[in-house]
Parts: sequence; C-alpha cells; structure tokens
Amino acid sequence: MKSTVIAGAVTATLVSTASALAEQNRVRFPGNLGELEHYTTVRRGEVTEFMYTSREAADAAKAGEPIPPGTQVILQDWRNGEVYRLFVMEKGENWGDDYEEAMRTENWQFQWFWPDGSINLNENTQRCRSCHQARDGREFMYTFDQLRNYE
Ligand code: HEC
Repeated sequence: MKSTVIAGAVTATLVSTASALAEQNRVRFPGNLGELEHYTTVRRGEVTEFMYTSREAADAAKAGEPIPPGTQVILQDWRNGEVYRLFVMEKGENWGDDYEEAMRTENWQFQWFWPDGSINLNENTQRCRSCHQARDGREFMYTFDQLRNYE
C-alpha cells in the first residue's frame, strides 16, 4: 500500500519537526485563576481536571460569538490533592501564523506548564494542536458545550 508508506513518512517528518518545537511559545503561565470562572470539572480515574476561563469567553460562547483574543482556557490537573500540571490554551491575534497552515488551531496556541511556571520541554505542542484540531468549529475545545451552558 503505497499511500500508507507515504503517510508514515510524512508522520515521521512531522514528529521530528515538532519535537524541535518543544520550547516556549506565546502562551503565558496563568497567574490569575482566582479571577477566572471555573466552568466545569472532568474526572478521569485518579485525575480531576478543573477547567477555567474568563467571563468574557463564557459570554461569547453563549452568544455564539468568537472567543476574544487574549483569552486563556486552563485545565488544572489535580492528583492526590495537589496540582500536578496546567494545560493552557491561549488565543492571540495572528498567533496561528507561527505554524504551518495544516498544523494550526486557528489562533490558539497550547502549552504544558508545571505548577512552578516552567514548561515541559519534553512535550511538543503539535501533539496538543493535532488532537484539538478535531474540535474545529467549537473553538478547538473539548468542553465547549460545558462552557456554552455555564451560567
Ligand atoms: C489525544 C487528544 C488530546 C491531546 C493530545 C491533548 N488534549 Fe487537551 N483535551 C483533550 C480532551 C478529550 C479534553 C477534554 C477533557 C477530558 O476529557 O479530559 C481536553 C481538554 C483540554 C483543555 C480544556 C479545554 C477543552 O478543550 O476542553 C485544555 C486547556 C487542553 N486540553 C490543553 C491541552 C494541551 C496544552 C495539550 C498538550 C500539552 C493537550 N491539551 C493535548 C484531548 C487532548
């Protein structure tokens, strides 16, 4: 199957390029969780995920309008009563331009932070984007409906 071979080669190239991108991007460490809305919680076995974003983002989602640039959405991952890590997606004007078109989640960028604010240099954020690409049309968010229905 020739096409499979080609697809495999393309995947290998993307993976090696992406691992070179395991570095700081434009996403900021969220310092203001107390000012954000805790709009939903997802439980996965031993892991509890608190999701946060701004009131403005929740209002936009409810109104069917685009979430404004400057918004952060945060997944705070709790294990054994402590914060293990923070997954953050943040939207900025033209931030998609930092990536090749096929690898974009429009103007959202993703980052994995440890609680001390450092980033996980072993992660390539292309992995985040490629999975979240499946949520095109819903701000690339898996919990978009929960946000839209949040009061
Ligand atoms: C294999 C798919 C997959 C990958 C890879 C992935 N995510 Fe997610 N992400 C999800 C799912 C599914 C949820 C919904 C919560 C849940 O089910 O645990 C989610 C939720 C989130 C949320 C909360 C907003 C939302 O979309 O619901 C953020 C923020 C987030 N992920 C960031 C990241 C970051 C940062 C990375 C990379 C370090 C990443 N994700 C990698 C699937 C993925």
